[in-house]
Amino acid sequence: MPRRVLLVLPRRTYRARAFLAAARRLDLEVVVGAEEPSTLAPRHPGAEVLVDLHQPGASARRVATYAATHPLDGIVGVDESAVLVAAHIADRLALPFHPVAAVAATRDKRQLRRRLAAAGVPQPRFQELPGSVAGDSAAAAAVLAAVGLPAVVKPVDQAASRGVIRVDTAGEFVAAVARVRALLAADPECAASGPAPLLVERFAAGPEVAVEGLVRDGVLHVLATFDKPDPLQGPYFEESCLVTPSRQSPARQARAATVAAAAAEALGLIDGPIHAELRWDGNEARCLEVAARSIGGQCSRALRLVDGATLEEAILRDACGLPPARLELVPGAAGVLMLPIPAAGTLDGVGGQAAARAVPGVEEVTVTVPRGGRLVPLPEGDRYLGFLFARGPDAATVEAALREAHRRLQVRVTEPDGPAAVPPSGPVAAWR
Ligand SMILES: Nc1ncnc2c1ncn2[C@@H]1O[C@H](COP(=O)(O)OP(=O)(O)O)[C@@H](O)[C@H]1O
Ligand SMILES: [Mg+2]
Repeated sequence: MPRRVLLVLPRRTYRARAFLAAARRLDLEVVVGAEEPSTLAPRHPGAEVLVDLHQPGASARRVATYAATHPLDGIVGVDESAVLVAAHIADRLALPFHPVAAVAATRDKRQLRRRLAAAGVPQPRFQELPGSVAGDSAAAAAVLAAVGLPAVVKPVDQAASRGVIRVDTAGEFVAAVARVRALLAADPECAASGPAPLLVERFAAGPEVAVEGLVRDGVLHVLATFDKPDPLQGPYFEESCLVTPSRQSPARQARAATVAAAAAEALGLIDGPIHAELRWDGNEARCLEVAARSIGGQCSRALRLVDGATLEEAILRDACGLPPARLELVPGAAGVLMLPIPAAGTLDGVGGQAAARAVPGVEEVTVTVPRGGRLVPLPEGDRYLGFLFARGPDAATVEAALREAHRRLQVRVTEPDGPAAVPPSGPVAAWR
């Protein structure tokens, strides 16, 4: 009997294909936890159960009813918006995953900061700016004074740098607070009624790394440390280049792993993937955040494990109780460049893709917004334009290949107000 795994696949995810392919390679029977019935579901009876990402408890009850007749061996929430539901389901069915409280803390940056502070994990100085004091300029000024400039204003529950703004003056701070609250108020996905709570942090000016790993029985196993070689000085923090192995000193890499492990432990993340981001401020690696999931977008394609496995296979193996994958990358360096969105408007096309693919070391060029799709730059934007992947003997060569390939692309953007971009790969697209 093949093992059965529930993949919670949000409507808008870039992670569906990679997880479905991994499940296929591991011979797992996949049940999709979907937000809406897929058009192909009737042909796969029993292969889909509906979940509401905003109702984790109710979703877990529904899955439990389903599992009474279709026992599940494992569960994976494939990205950020799915992990809380996944944790509730895992809790109810006694399947391996991080506990609900730990995952909930990663989904609210205020809770994350409080837990790290209580455990003494290095992080930027921070203050909460509750929605209830919106309009109280003295309260806002006090928050800023406690943090100090330069500072960063951010939402408590977004991802991919959406709404994250650096401020260098009190005037910029007031404008940023208003802008972030406005973008959250305009978002139908945001649950908050009234002015949203925000987080204000001290800006950490040093280099940034991402630590990708799997926690097994409370022990963090680091698979990769990525450098983010862009300057990332703000005011917005568009994610672009990620390259592994890191070119930080071995001592710094070790410190980043230690702080990431301490952060995971402080949060109670004990069984499943984590993605931690850290930044140096002076001589210390400070934890920006830890997510209870693997790396976002399509970036995991940059990671190739020895034994031919993918990151998703490693995650599925742990989730389903299969023999664990060896968490070691193939030799050499790899990287991904998330295509920056050059301007607001409608995507008319991306030229030069063949030339970009021809750069030695470049393995893949993928544009994930269709022609005619809307492009919204940060801080408001919330989707990736596309991804470039490269591989080479060392990190510097890989970064150079990615930059050269990017230079060869022409992203054509026309006037604003085009049709909204369709999701890059939802459950429906992923079944094909
Ligand atoms: N306190 C900070 N100091 C320096 N840079 C920061 C800080 N907070 C956020 N950033 C930058 O903004 C990016 C996104 O912030 P983050 O808190 O990770 O939000 P998200 O959940 O949207 O990824 C970070 O990767 C980093 O580059
Ligand atoms: Mg982040």
